[in-house]
Amino acid sequence: MSFDLADSVLDDFPILHRRVRGNQKLVYLDSAATSQKPTEVIEAVSNYYETTNATIHRSGHELGELASAAYESARANVASFVGVESGNLVFTKNATESINLIAYAILNATLLNSKDTNLYRKYALKADDEIWLTEMEHHANLVPWQHLSKVTGAKLKYIAVSEDGELQFDANQITRKAKIIAVTHQSNVLGTINNIAEISKVANLNNALLILDACQSVPHLPTNFAELGVAAAAWSGHKMLGPTGIGLLYLRNDLLTELPPFLFGGNMIENVTFEQSTFRSDNGRFEAGTMNIAQAVGLSAAVDYLKNVGMTKIHGHESALIKYALSELLQMPGIRVLGPRSADNRGGIVSFEVNGVHPHDVSQFLDAKGIAVRAGHHCAWPLHRKIGAVASTRASFYLYNTKQDVTDFLDALSQVRKYFKVV
Ligand code: ALA
Repeated sequence: MSFDLADSVLDDFPILHRRVRGNQKLVYLDSAATSQKPTEVIEAVSNYYETTNATIHRSGHELGELASAAYESARANVASFVGVESGNLVFTKNATESINLIAYAILNATLLNSKDTNLYRKYALKADDEIWLTEMEHHANLVPWQHLSKVTGAKLKYIAVSEDGELQFDANQITRKAKIIAVTHQSNVLGTINNIAEISKVANLNNALLILDACQSVPHLPTNFAELGVAAAAWSGHKMLGPTGIGLLYLRNDLLTELPPFLFGGNMIENVTFEQSTFRSDNGRFEAGTMNIAQAVGLSAAVDYLKNVGMTKIHGHESALIKYALSELLQMPGIRVLGPRSADNRGGIVSFEVNGVHPHDVSQFLDAKGIAVRAGHHCAWPLHRKIGAVASTRASFYLYNTKQDVTDFLDALSQVRKYFKVV
C-alpha cells in the first residue's frame, strides 16, 4: 500500500499550506463537498481574465475568437476525459443544474405533447410511467425527479439500499414502464461504488433513459460514459479541482437533438421572429446566455492536471487511505461506520456516527484541531432516515491527503467521546 502520491502533489495546492484555528496545520477531509485547487487552475482563470476575456460565439473581434477557442478547447478536453465526443457535452452552472436541465426538458416535452400529440411523444411522461431512483441519491438527483413526478403523475420508484450500504438491484423490477433511471455512480455518504454496467444493460433493454450522477466518480475514478452505456451523465467541476460555477452534462445524440430546451434566450436559438423561435440542434441548444467561460477554462486546466497525475493512480491512493481509515474506524469503540465494511468497492469517503455525540459536535471538536470534515445529512436526508441515522460525520479524501492526515483525524476522533463525557 503506497501513500506517496500526496507528498508529490501537496506543493501544488497553496491553500493546504495555510494555518487554521490559530496556528494549526489544515487537515482538509471535505473534498466530497468541494476539492481544493492547484496553482495551474488558479492561474488559468486569472490568465484568461488578464489576456483573453470576451463573450464567446458572438463577438467577432480577436478577443472574441480567442475566448471562443479557449471555451471549445476546454469542452473537447473535458469530453475526452470521460470518453465522449465534445459535441455531446453541455456546460452548465453545476451538477444540480445539469440534472434539472434534463428533468425540465422532459417536463417541457410532456407539456408540449399535451397540446399537440405529435410533439415530443418519445419523451412525454404519462401517469403510468415510472421514474426509478435509488435510496442512496443525494438531493440533487432526487428533488428534481420528485417535481417531475408531481407535475406529470409518473410514479417514483426506488432501488433499495441494504443495511451494509449496497444497492439491492433486482432487474425484474424494471419493466417497459420505466422511462427514467437516475442513479449515483458513487454514494456521497456511503462511499459505495455502484455497478452501473449491470443497471445500464437492464435500462437499455427496456428503453429507459439511464441518467448517471457522476459527481463523486469522475473526480476520483477513471470514468468512461460511452463504455458505461448511459444516456446522460451529470457532474460538477468544483469537485474535480476545477473552479466553482461550472457543471457538466453529457447527453447521448438522441437526447441532445430531440429534447426541448430548458433555458431560453440568446445563443440557443436558430431563428427568432416576434411571433416565435426555433432552436439549435447541437449542444448550444442547452447553453442559453453568457456562459461561465473562465470557469470552463479553469476546469480544462484541472483536467490536464488530473490526466498528468493519472486517474488510476489517484483511485489507488484514495483506496489505500480508505482501507487504512476503515480498518481503524471499524475497531474504534462507539463508532458506527455507515456503508460497506470492506474498502474493496468503496471510494475515498467514510461517514460514521459517534455513539452519544451529535455529528455537529464531532465536527466542531475536529475543527478545533484544524481537521475539516462535514457533518449533517450531506444532502441525502432520506438515505440517513433509511439507515437509521439522524445525521453523520463524513471524512472524504483526495489525491492531496497524506497518511498523516488520516492518522491525525483518527487520533482526534478517538478523543471525542471522552471529551464529551460519554465514556
Ligand atoms: N455536495 C454535497 C456533498 O457534500 C452533496 O456531498
